[in-house]
Amino acid sequence: MFECKEKAAQKSVGFLFALGFSIFLPIYGAVTGKHRVENQANSPQINKDLPWKMSTDGPYFEWRQRRLTNLNKSENVGFVAVNDLAKPTDSERAELVRRCRETNTVLYHSDSGVQDQDRLRHDLRAFAGAMGLMIAEGHRSADPDGIVALTVSDKPAQRGFIPYSRKAMNWHTDGYYNAPEHQIRAMILHCAVPADNGGENQFLDPELAYIRLRDHNPDFVQALMHPQAMTIPENAEADGSVRPVSIGPVFSVDQDGQLAMRYTARTRSITWRDDETTRQAAATLQSLLEQGDPLMQSLRFEAGQGVLCNNVLHNRTGFDADTEKASDRLVFRVRFHNRVKGS
Ligand SMILES: [Fe+2]
Repeated sequence: MFECKEKAAQKSVGFLFALGFSIFLPIYGAVTGKHRVENQANSPQINKDLPWKMSTDGPYFEWRQRRLTNLNKSENVGFVAVNDLAKPTDSERAELVRRCRETNTVLYHSDSGVQDQDRLRHDLRAFAGAMGLMIAEGHRSADPDGIVALTVSDKPAQRGFIPYSRKAMNWHTDGYYNAPEHQIRAMILHCAVPADNGGENQFLDPELAYIRLRDHNPDFVQALMHPQAMTIPENAEADGSVRPVSIGPVFSVDQDGQLAMRYTARTRSITWRDDETTRQAAATLQSLLEQGDPLMQSLRFEAGQGVLCNNVLHNRTGFDADTEKASDRLVFRVRFHNRVKGS
């Protein structure tokens, strides 16, 4: 459980008020590459970035309460039935969007393509289109349709990578190693074949992570919004190419005022900004995730079940640890450069 230190947070936020405009705006500008005034002219979501400002405790605490209320709603839990994944009805789509707007995450299930993986791939692509998503994958393992099959694999391009093994995957958001301008903003995970044992997922709204961390210490949020907060070094890829170093913030605000999160709980091949507050912030965030949260979702997908989300924090337990041969667990992953439309 997390300790809510609202009074301490309010006090610290008050202290930061005087520094707000001198500290936050340069960070914001560096993160987004735009000054907020430019956004004011064009965006209908002009005030959405207010909650993220360290200087605006009023809007922040209003937003905070609303978010926690939405995350607690019983109608935001469980699966949305989608009859034809390729053509969600207006009411199905409205419910999917509503949940994404309120919690950044929606679980769904559909019998589409359960017996036919080619059909399922087609339907997933159509589903993404119906939700206004633009496929992002130029991933080495993506098929031409931009869909990655996550399954245990010894293929040269996949061997040794945890997603293609039975091993547990630590907390992360997808594409944390991408350049800030190529962030993954949404994704779908769709289970075609579950593991025999294990292979559970947990999901946590990045906005909840922001709230928990800011409740703990607003300075920690400030530190993780720094443009050089987290560095992932360059990496030689199996195809001989080199993925360049990725330097950027953990929390950032996009041009529409939406919060974005870039994070991995890995401890190797990652460098945190050489600053004591940043180190404490990273350690606290990792600890909060490991402790668990009542508003975290934990489940083991069955065939035909999936999640559509605005790239929320997630992990995976290991699976089939006690059997000689791994099961045929197969999860399709599709990533996108934009958020679920309307959320
Ligand atoms: Fe992932």
